[in-house]
Amino acid sequence: MGDAEIIIPRHVAVVMDGNGRWAEERGLDRTEGHREGRYAARRFVRAADDRGVECVSLYAFSTENWARPETEVEALMTLIEGALLAELEELCQHDVRLVWSGGREGLPGALRRALNSTIEATAGNAGMVLNLCVNYGGQAEIAEAAKQIAQKVRAGELDADEVAPETISAHLYVPELPPVDLLIRPGGDLRVSNFLLWQIAYAEFYVMEDFWPDFQAEHLDAAIADYSRRRRRFGGLPLEE
Ligand code: FPP
Repeated sequence: MGDAEIIIPRHVAVVMDGNGRWAEERGLDRTEGHREGRYAARRFVRAADDRGVECVSLYAFSTENWARPETEVEALMTLIEGALLAELEELCQHDVRLVWSGGREGLPGALRRALNSTIEATAGNAGMVLNLCVNYGGQAEIAEAAKQIAQKVRAGELDADEVAPETISAHLYVPELPPVDLLIRPGGDLRVSNFLLWQIAYAEFYVMEDFWPDFQAEHLDAAIADYSRRRRRFGGLPLEE
């Protein structure tokens, strides 16, 4: 018997949780945890790319995060903007293409411009896709898709009887993303937190006890090894061995 077969998931999504607790444990401001979380995100993107993952999704700012204190919200906006500008060169070196899932309204202009210019600058990259979820909520994404579909029905462009799951998929923020295979959540909580609700229908869930700023490539290897041992059935029966 050799080593167990490793199956590389096509799409890995991460709820980057535990930044605040990581900082509080050290007597630091919560924003220090987000700053470290940014470097963890860089380690994750490199590790996923090295292992041949096709697409990664990172939950950087949710529609619920607006309820945090203004200083924390502002720090996150500035951090995400700064990270995009600082990482552009490396994204291009690794042929990574940035896409953005999230509501276009309500973000500071500087962050919106940084997102749009990075999307444009990496549009020709043919390697891994990095789906950055900013001002993102799963329910809002599905509601937005439903709105667009309703408008098409009203305009006579679409027959209501023909609306199917594929119709919803085609109206998500980034329709071409493959379904999520593996959803990683650091920080120990067993929650989905309104993340990629449509795309995670059959995702395998992997919870890490460590906080996000402590993420290392070994965590991804452990998650992939665990994922490889699971027998995905998609609601059917196990495949014959
Ligand atoms: C959740 O931890 C984390 C966030 C709300 C922000 C995550 C954003 C980053 C790490 C910035 C990354 C930027 C790029 C461009 C990749 P929490 O504050 O809820 O932690 P807690 O549960 O311990 O309080």
